[in-house]
Amino acid sequence: MGGCGSSPTQVSLDQTKNLHTLSSDRIVKIAMIGDQGLGEKSRKLLRVIKRQNADLLLINGDFDYKNDPYGWERMNRDILGEDFPIIAVLGNHDLPQYDAYKDIITRWNNNPQLDCKGDPGVRSDCTFKGIQIVSSSPGIFPDQSSEIDQNYIHNAFAQSTSPWRICQWHKTMHDMQTGTKEDETGWGVYEECRENGAIITTGHEHAYARSYLLSDIPNKQVASFSDIYDIEKGKSLVLLSGLGGLSSRHLRHDGYWWAHKENLDTGTDAGALICAFNLDNRQSSCYFIDENGETKDSFTLRTHL
Ligand SMILES: [Fe+2]
Repeated sequence: MGGCGSSPTQVSLDQTKNLHTLSSDRIVKIAMIGDQGLGEKSRKLLRVIKRQNADLLLINGDFDYKNDPYGWERMNRDILGEDFPIIAVLGNHDLPQYDAYKDIITRWNNNPQLDCKGDPGVRSDCTFKGIQIVSSSPGIFPDQSSEIDQNYIHNAFAQSTSPWRICQWHKTMHDMQTGTKEDETGWGVYEECRENGAIITTGHEHAYARSYLLSDIPNKQVASFSDIYDIEKGKSLVLLSGLGGLSSRHLRHDGYWWAHKENLDTGTDAGALICAFNLDNRQSSCYFIDENGETKDSFTLRTHL
């Protein structure tokens, strides 16, 4: 568990226990995974997500690793259901079957529960029950600068009135992952999201890591070491969630800015981050749960947007 004070963590754990089964119109549960695969652990994790009563799934790129878009679609549909809302953004492994993935994600973005605009799977701006999810592709297309993504994010939030905002993409900067991935996105996209008070979730490295509240991401300036995050314009956190089922990797790069890490060295093979956003009190209880249903991290977000 991150943080050292016992009482804030305890509050968060108690809330999380209740939220494992609770579901209502005013509580919106969003699950986030990346680097999914098509194996038994991938399926097991999807069943956990379903049993947790998630309302929406975000897939942060690198889908099946077999260039099998329809097998990937079938797996997610068979377990989550035909109408379950999913927002997916392309990873580097998804480019060989770009057109087929785009077709699938375009259909998914047309889910009546989602209000999406933009280019599905590449740069899109979706709203789900008042929560805004902006997906982008920094570092994915060699001929496209990350400034395009940064500008897209900037414009998507320019007129936003959403109390909860999520930035989703696949790749990372070296310091925003716990393995051997290099700098691939630039810092601009991270900073644009932080300046707009958006939670940042990525994949690419096959691990889970939760940063502290940051007020400057390139310089890893920590605004608070609490497990209760006060999110506002200028202060947000980074959530690497790349344990969708394909594999888990060793810790190779660490830093003081991480509040909690799960990876091969902590004995975690697969897992999903789930946040339960309470639309009435502007709080969200988040937890990382593995494919066996064991909760391995929990924390609380409060929005001041
Ligand atoms: Fe990747």
